[in-house]
Amino acid sequence: MSEKLAKEVKKRRTFAIISHPDAGKTTITEQLLLFSGAIREAGTVKAKGKKSNKFAKSDWMEIEKQRGISVTSSVMQVDYDGFQVNILDTPGHEDFSEDTYRTLMAVDAAVMVVDSGKGIEPQTKKLFEVCSMRGIPIFTFMNKLDRDGREPLELVAELEDVLGIQAYPMNWPMGMGKNLLGLYDLYNKRVELRLNEESDETEAYIPLDEDGEAEGEHSFKSSSIYSQAIEDATLLHEAGNEFDREAIDAGKLTPVFFGSALTGFGVQTFFDAFVDLAPAPSETEAMDEVVIEPEDPRFTGFIFKIQANMNPAHRDRIAFVRVCSGNFEKGMSVTLNRTGKTLRMAHTTQFMADAREEVQDAIAGDIIGLYDTGNLQIGDTIYSGNKSVQFKPLPQFTPELFMRVTPKNVMKQKSFHKGIEQLVQEGAIQMYKTYHTEEYIVGAVGQLQFEVFQYRLLHEYNAEVVMTPMGSKIARWIDPKDLNPKMSSSRNLLTRDRFDNPVFLFENTFAENWFKDKYPEIELKQLL
Ligand code: G4P
Repeated sequence: MSEKLAKEVKKRRTFAIISHPDAGKTTITEQLLLFSGAIREAGTVKAKGKKSNKFAKSDWMEIEKQRGISVTSSVMQVDYDGFQVNILDTPGHEDFSEDTYRTLMAVDAAVMVVDSGKGIEPQTKKLFEVCSMRGIPIFTFMNKLDRDGREPLELVAELEDVLGIQAYPMNWPMGMGKNLLGLYDLYNKRVELRLNEESDETEAYIPLDEDGEAEGEHSFKSSSIYSQAIEDATLLHEAGNEFDREAIDAGKLTPVFFGSALTGFGVQTFFDAFVDLAPAPSETEAMDEVVIEPEDPRFTGFIFKIQANMNPAHRDRIAFVRVCSGNFEKGMSVTLNRTGKTLRMAHTTQFMADAREEVQDAIAGDIIGLYDTGNLQIGDTIYSGNKSVQFKPLPQFTPELFMRVTPKNVMKQKSFHKGIEQLVQEGAIQMYKTYHTEEYIVGAVGQLQFEVFQYRLLHEYNAEVVMTPMGSKIARWIDPKDLNPKMSSSRNLLTRDRFDNPVFLFENTFAENWFKDKYPEIELKQLL
């Protein structure tokens, strides 16, 4: 094991920001770029008419457009305080898809941005659940403290009540909105003041004395906002959870920070603690009880996302690889485990905030993009050397939206079938057939997946399709040996997935519960 490699691995922080749209993900990302020196000026990155694009683009593409810097929609690598930080995008509701969930399979930690006026919103909850399933550390940033929001105690309690994760406040707001004085920072044992023209203070950070009071004479100390913050924070520390590194690492306890991404207040404090506490890349489990350590000198990685170009003039696809071990060097040959074929990685790209550069080398924790002509699939393992490695398959995510799909032109059946088959294999969409009539139904976690599917069938396979929405359904798998076709009724639709396993699509939870009451011995399984 090379010491140099081990040292480099320790500097990696690979994470995703999870949040509901509008909570402030773009703004906080921009602040990180600012601190890292990748961009010089903060500002509103939202373009007018952003939501009018048919294919909603990631907000990062907006940053790219507006700032004239080249970030991709999916990955950014920046240097922050001596750390190599890889941020992976999890797109908002317009382009929410299975890819969004799969991206969370390639990170070592997640930052959860919550709008403190709104609390936990649906998309945050969905993304949280995927992170929670993986047991990765989750760091919470309660944003928009410059506005009057909900009570901090209530927000923290909600993390436990709604998400079921224990919370540990790292700092505590002293007021909010117009009355925001600063943060009572228990982790760094200091008060962080929000300085503005009216304040008579010049230093932003004031250390705490042994009694937990800000050292020295300060006018803010006579404010009830200050004493209330101390009281709340002390109460939480006495009655609340203990700071427990192991529980943080296991994703059972979330460190909570307060701040305002828009004004930049509390953001640096947050990132400093984040790079300090978030884990460096660790081992990845492979099949047959093999475990690959990041410092293993062999290069290994898996593909978690394939982005096909929407532009028909450029048919290129980029396969996103999470490097799990070793050193990747430009031009190296690797083996694709699924086929045993050797690929030469001549055309690769890495994602920097200031330029999209041809990747020269990358190490465990980094993300590289491979230009692919159709060899690679989601979940594929690639490796260097002679000893084969196969990482565990990526989980499948239960789709929630369904459409019936039929070819428009019956003469084009062949391209229709081929197109569906390949797009399903690639993981772009999930496919089902009605049990008796063999009609095609496609399932997705986000609406955009359907649009991309339809567009690609037409442009890549010359198959025009008619898609008929079926709305949202609850998909539940049952053991094939339990299947009795009589179970199919007007309250559910019996289908098979692409492996021929029986799946019921229920209208709603009422229909699901009705089934459970009627067939208590049948286990309904959610694929996750
Ligand atoms: P997203 O990527 O999570 O979708 O959120 P984004 O950063 O785009 O932020 C959503 C809106 O919230 C933006 O306003 C942004 O300026 C605002 N925002 C983000 N952080 C803060 C904060 O700390 N305080 C306040 N007050 N606002 C914040 P916008 O798109 O310009 O909409 P609008 O405010 O002009 O309607």
